[in-house]
Amino acid sequence: MKTAFASLDVLNTEGTLVLFATADGKLGKTAAALNEQTGGAIKRAILLAEERFKRGVVELACPSGVAHDRFLVFAVDDPAECSAYDWESLGGKIVAKLNGLGVKTAHVAIDQFEGMDTRDDEVALALATGMRLRNYRFDKYRTSTDDEAESPPSGLQKLNLHLENHGAAAEHWESGAAIAAGVEHGRDLVTEPANVLTPTAFAEECKKIGGEVGLDVEVLDRAALENLGMHALLGVAQGSEQAPFLVVMQWKGGKDDEPPVALVGKGVCFDTGGISLKPAGGMEEMKFDMGGAAAVFGAMKAIAGRKARANVVGVLGLVENMPSGTAQRPGDVVTAMSGTTIEIINTDAEGRLVLADALFYTQERFEPKAMIDVATLTGAVIVALGHEQAGMFSPDDALADQLRAAGEAVGESVWRLPLGGNYDKHIKSEIADIKNTGRAREAGATAGAVFLQRFAGDVPWAHLDIAGVAWSKRDLPLSGKGATGFGVRLLDRFVADNHEG
Ligand code: BES
Ligand code: ZN
Ligand code: ZN
Repeated sequence: MKTAFASLDVLNTEGTLVLFATADGKLGKTAAALNEQTGGAIKRAILLAEERFKRGVVELACPSGVAHDRFLVFAVDDPAECSAYDWESLGGKIVAKLNGLGVKTAHVAIDQFEGMDTRDDEVALALATGMRLRNYRFDKYRTSTDDEAESPPSGLQKLNLHLENHGAAAEHWESGAAIAAGVEHGRDLVTEPANVLTPTAFAEECKKIGGEVGLDVEVLDRAALENLGMHALLGVAQGSEQAPFLVVMQWKGGKDDEPPVALVGKGVCFDTGGISLKPAGGMEEMKFDMGGAAAVFGAMKAIAGRKARANVVGVLGLVENMPSGTAQRPGDVVTAMSGTTIEIINTDAEGRLVLADALFYTQERFEPKAMIDVATLTGAVIVALGHEQAGMFSPDDALADQLRAAGEAVGESVWRLPLGGNYDKHIKSEIADIKNTGRAREAGATAGAVFLQRFAGDVPWAHLDIAGVAWSKRDLPLSGKGATGFGVRLLDRFVADNHEG
């Protein structure tokens, strides 16, 4: 979708024009002028629709003498109270409506309403963001074009936003578009099936994007991981024909001597469970078990794309978890890079094994000022929080608050869950330092987190369990069914608000 910003002079544009009115029917300057020009048609349509308008939108075909075909008037509950995320969500609604009508090119007039503190260029940025994110689709594997059900019409292609401060909006959009591109690319990776997005293909994609946006990318192969003693990660990969990798992506936008922020992602390209095999029903979903790595990848693309003034390193642990004659067994003991010995109780608790080595490596090599891992780690976090919020675990109150605020700002909410204390006892092993599961049906998401904490060293660290939010079976304000890209914007915003400038 192409996005452009222009002046409020919309009277001579054509096609579909989106306008806003307050829920009680007040019009801004542009809408009022068009109402005048159409002999009061807009006001009449709002009055006729009554409650239906307050809940959303009225559509009116334009009378002759007007350059446009149709007006869509969206209700804005209280423009003075709208947050950026509210405008983004409204953008999502608008694009869903436009796509329902099959509109390819749309104009949106952004009037300033009374009492509204938010500048029109901020509103434009939020609308453009929401519309672009909600307009995302993944059509790569659709070949039929004649069957509507199989191949729904492609989405909005050209968006023209009209406002007074259009120059400022166009400037903001340079960053906004880079962030949206990061989300889209993250969603693409999550959606790709595991026969296409193998760990090798994922690592290749990292190198490719590094060249495009200016990231330094290193790919550590099996031999390098063996030299480092990463037997927790390697143990997960040993049942698969697919080679494992650790990818390190660096963005150096800050001062030379400034330690980086580190983002670490679980990249299990397919999780069968291994010898502790998962049930067949729904197993296809486990292609999204690399959602944490995709979030880090997307955030790195966004951060580099908008040339953030910060040093940020992204580390991805890429493996496939398969059952086979060479696969790891329940009862095996492996030694992680840190020297910690781990008894494998359940080969399906593989994400924490991958992250154990990725986290230890990252904190030792980079001594980051903050380290955040993102992972589709446990089914238990879905039991606790459903698909509404991600679980957040951190011993650091300040870091937890920063992440919560970043998530809130972009509509990617995280809810803090407990860590440490007695929970640490849940992973005691009879034979090794720790085991890779907690106690059956008890605080499973925390058991995963206390396991990871063992490998985070002394750096300020947080773990985001995104198992419930990386993929959606329902339409959401800023995404349709499928991959959400959860984490990309949260991480980008966390860096922007706390580690730049
Ligand atoms: N990838 C899964 C977690 C998951 C489940 C993500 C559902 C998304 C949706 C993870 O590797 C896993 O299987 N965890 C086990 C851990 C258990 C064996 C301790 C789980 O949650 O059941
Ligand atoms: Zn698993
Ligand atoms: Zn997994």
